[in-house]
Amino acid sequence: MKRLYHAILSIVIIVTVLSAAIACAQELKPIKLPAPQTEGGKPLMQALKERKTSREFSPRELPPQVLSNLLWAAFGINRPESGKRTAPSAMNWQEIDIYVALSQGLYLYNAADNTLRPVLAQDLRALTGTQDFVKDAPINLVYVADFSKMGNSPDNGKEVDANADTGFIGQNVYLFCASEGLATVVRGLIDKPTLEKAMGLRPDQRVILAQTVGYPK
Ligand SMILES: Cc1cc2nc3c(=O)[nH]c(=O)nc-3n(C[C@H](O)[C@H](O)[C@H](O)COP(=O)(O)O)c2cc1C
Repeated sequence: MKRLYHAILSIVIIVTVLSAAIACAQELKPIKLPAPQTEGGKPLMQALKERKTSREFSPRELPPQVLSNLLWAAFGINRPESGKRTAPSAMNWQEIDIYVALSQGLYLYNAADNTLRPVLAQDLRALTGTQDFVKDAPINLVYVADFSKMGNSPDNGKEVDANADTGFIGQNVYLFCASEGLATVVRGLIDKPTLEKAMGLRPDQRVILAQTVGYPK
């Protein structure tokens, strides 16, 4: 009898916790970003001169317009007629997804409709890297390769291409940050298995790098 009581109690607790988690995730709404401003900014040579890594961030949030511009610079669509992007990708696979870890939750950047799609109503910033500053910086971008978009080559070949493709996106973000006076660092120091699990990624999705962005401290 006591065992049955405990079993029922456990089921009730599990169901309550699960419903709370589902309700929480449902509360996270898609964010429609303002159209990116694709004019202006510093001249390219000046941005190159100022490109640098910074590891000190103000907790101040980025306005939606700046976030939209940042994501467009990173891997937005710059040729709507073909759907091609601001960074190249092997075979035009466009296999790198940009996940955006904000304090209120995790989102996926959708370049086609310029939205942030809700993924998890959980603050995953601390898990996006092993360095202390990541948990308080307003934005951590997580570059995730979707191997299912990369044809039939072996996984090690896909990794090479995905690493290269991520590098171009990371440099776009560096240049945008230099142009806008933002601080940024691209990062490989990540406990990838833990982060992939927390993000709920499929086995054919791999975290490649992360990049912290914010106002300088
Ligand atoms: C692939 C890659 C991984 C990196 N990983 C980290 C990292 O995990 N943490 C960090 O603080 N910096 C990381 N960096 C930033 C480098 O340390 C930085 O680019 C380098 O010190 C040169 O500084 P600069 O970018 O200002 O020229 C990484 C850079 C690259 C390209």
